[in-house]
Amino acid sequence: MIEFKNVSKVYESGNKQVKAVDNINLHVEKGQICVFLGPSGCGKTTLLRMVNRLIPISGGSIHVDGKDINTMNPIELRRSIGYVIQQVGLFPNMTIEENISVVPNMLGWDRVKTKKRYSELMEMVGLNPDEYRKRYPWELSGGQQQRIGVARALAADPPVMLMDEPFGALDPMIREHIQNEFLRIQQNVKKTILFVSHDIDEAIRLGDTIAIFKSGQLMQHGTPDEILSNPQNEFVRDFVGSDRALKRLTLFSVRDLIGRIEHFKKGIGVRKEFHNFIVQVNTDLRTALSVILSSPTSDVWVVDEKERPIGLLSLSDFEIFTGIHPAELKSIVN
Ligand SMILES: Nc1ncnc2c1ncn2[C@@H]1O[C@H](COP(=O)(O)OP(=O)(O)OP(=O)(O)O)[C@@H](O)[C@H]1O
Ligand SMILES: [Mg+2]
Repeated sequence: MIEFKNVSKVYESGNKQVKAVDNINLHVEKGQICVFLGPSGCGKTTLLRMVNRLIPISGGSIHVDGKDINTMNPIELRRSIGYVIQQVGLFPNMTIEENISVVPNMLGWDRVKTKKRYSELMEMVGLNPDEYRKRYPWELSGGQQQRIGVARALAADPPVMLMDEPFGALDPMIREHIQNEFLRIQQNVKKTILFVSHDIDEAIRLGDTIAIFKSGQLMQHGTPDEILSNPQNEFVRDFVGSDRALKRLTLFSVRDLIGRIEHFKKGIGVRKEFHNFIVQVNTDLRTALSVILSSPTSDVWVVDEKERPIGLLSLSDFEIFTGIHPAELKSIVN
């Protein structure tokens, strides 16, 4: 668990003082991803780098697993915290294997253990260990370098990870792919992760919770659902965007929705004539809504994983979930 208690940072810049982080109180539970979200200059990187003491704290305290980081040896602290910086930061003069082995070598692991760990990590991030072993970073695509950056940060199996816009430089398609892979890895490794982003969609996709900052102050901390359904002030409302109701739909699947609908519970509707507009129970509600809106009858068949029909889902069923009138739903999608 990571805990920020009244944490502040004041930079001395010439004879001016810049309050980059202003009295932050925040809890991040063990094994969860907390996304730090906010516009450029709001203090995300500063807050992150105070956790591994790359930046000294001006006021307050930070605790990792109950320990005040200022009482810990900074070198040991950093070994227990994986750090991925924005521009990947692979060492250009080192091969991929050498890059990933930096921390294990620092920790004095023997060669066999380090080699084994290299292969393990490469498998984990979906790259062939032998194919890339002797290559240099510049011989890899941006997405591949990004994965090496993540693998390197995971090398010594640290319980905590700090990730500063690790996927920021990637184009949207690759980015979504890497985000999904990252979530898949996280399901197995269950690290406590502070993840900086300025992209609301990335925050919704990756965060167990989202902390939104403005000018060094914490505006709101909550689950993506809480943030989207109940933004606490004007700033958060603007930041998440006017389509927050639609974004919220991406958090849920068709299964979540039909669990709340009486005719699905009773199995009514299955006898009706089957048509071509179909969604699977695992489809997210945002996608399902698009299919419904393209259907001439404004409804879709829901099928289970084996493509067996379960029932008919209509536009009006979305009203239950969103509280938004079907006509209005139609207009905000278009
Ligand atoms: N070394 C420094 N000296 C003085 N001011 C600094 C220093 N580093 C950062 N700042 C200021 O502190 C504030 C927060 O900076 P920080 O880098 O934490 O923002 P950020 O949220 O990470 O922004 P970005 O999204 O652009 O990376 C900014 O106003 C910045 O100008
Ligand atoms: Mg930053």
